[in-house]
Amino acid sequence: MSHTTAECVATVVDPKAHADPARLYDAFAWLRRNDPLARAEFDGFDPFYVVTRHADILEISKDNSVFPYGTYPSTLAPHQAVESGRAARAAGRPLLYTLVQMDEPDHMKYRALTQGWFMPQNVRRLEGRIRELARQAVARMEALGGECDFINEVALHFPLRVIMEILGVPSEDEPRMLRLTQELFAPTDPGLRRKDSDQSPEAQAMAIQQTLADFFNYFNAVTEARRAKPVEDVASVIANATIDGAQISAFDAVSYYVIIATAGHDTTSSSTGGAMWALAERPGELAKVKANPELIPGLVDESIRWTTPVRHFMRSAAADTTVAGRSVKKDDWFMLCYPSGNRDETVFDDPMEFRVDRNPNRHLAFGYGPHVCLGQHLAKMEMRILWEELLPRLKSVELAGAPQLSEANFVNGPKKLPIRYAFA
Ligand code: HEM
Repeated sequence: MSHTTAECVATVVDPKAHADPARLYDAFAWLRRNDPLARAEFDGFDPFYVVTRHADILEISKDNSVFPYGTYPSTLAPHQAVESGRAARAAGRPLLYTLVQMDEPDHMKYRALTQGWFMPQNVRRLEGRIRELARQAVARMEALGGECDFINEVALHFPLRVIMEILGVPSEDEPRMLRLTQELFAPTDPGLRRKDSDQSPEAQAMAIQQTLADFFNYFNAVTEARRAKPVEDVASVIANATIDGAQISAFDAVSYYVIIATAGHDTTSSSTGGAMWALAERPGELAKVKANPELIPGLVDESIRWTTPVRHFMRSAAADTTVAGRSVKKDDWFMLCYPSGNRDETVFDDPMEFRVDRNPNRHLAFGYGPHVCLGQHLAKMEMRILWEELLPRLKSVELAGAPQLSEANFVNGPKKLPIRYAFA
């Protein structure tokens, strides 16, 4: 099929294309082959480059002194939102200040506060409790009697509970947290965005401010509680953290909870749902991993590559430099297209195939370099444990209707996955 750069970059930013994999991956493949550093120019947006090759995404991600966020937001936003973000920062009143908005030196100082907590040797302590929650998820599936919407009835709840427990949020408040996360991540999806907001950029910006205000009200109370009585959770680490000898502000603490609360569950649910969808369509892969449980970590990695729930982050150039052998200018803006890097045929054999035994699997769904996903070990552990509990019980699974992906170009995944299954 013939394409143009303009058509393909329009597809990459179109939220609807992210719910239509054939269209999206066709555009990515064309860009990787023909214009891997494609210039995108849209009304109302600053121009930016669409980076689609695995090697170029790694190159930009690995050094945040050469490619920081700079004065741009970390995700694609219209010019008006870029300007209002700059004005708010200049006035010392940003809406949030999280790891994915920070450049050095702040970024490493703030990341170091929780980095040890998220390391494998520490999160391993949670294995017993996570296994209990995974068993509850399997029991729930069994109780649903052989047919369910795997996303809404199973996959959404398990990682949500894990994250909310480490943030000290009681289970009765979970629906509220889930709703706020979906509002923040999918303002373009008609079913998930904040009620009463519409598609216009102004309405979306207003809705995001209201959602953040709700998060602040909720988490300020958590900071106070953990300062009064610290326990062994990540909320206590954050509430009582110091930077350069001073306790972090309530604003910084809430920003930190928000990034963990939001980054930590939708992405994991989406990858789990993506795996179930892929297995439902591939009985051979299901049989392979059932017969060889040592392949479960491979299933987890492949499902994260396959789904790539985080669709992009942005970076800017700190100075004139080169990318993909081409000169770029200071302040140029780049969209790192992780799903495209994860289908790059120069890195993956048969990238459009789902293989539980793919090895090596150098996917970049967790990003790379100084900002690489802080929660990656926790996410992989949660998914491994769920499959360890579920696979011995799952005799067969097939689709029981058409799955649906969310219409969002930042965090994306299946929002409906009807399946029919038999348990042993
Ligand atoms: C399958 C699940 C997940 C995926 C695909 C994912 C993906 C990502 C990606 C692509 C980034 C940006 C990396 C970069 O810019 O180089 C990121 C950053 C981050 N993730 Fe995850 N994530 C997942 C699960 C989690 C979990 C479970 C948590 C927390 C408990 C978490 C917390 C974070 C945080 C705090 C950052 C910011 C790190 C920084 O800027 O230094 N993520 N994640």
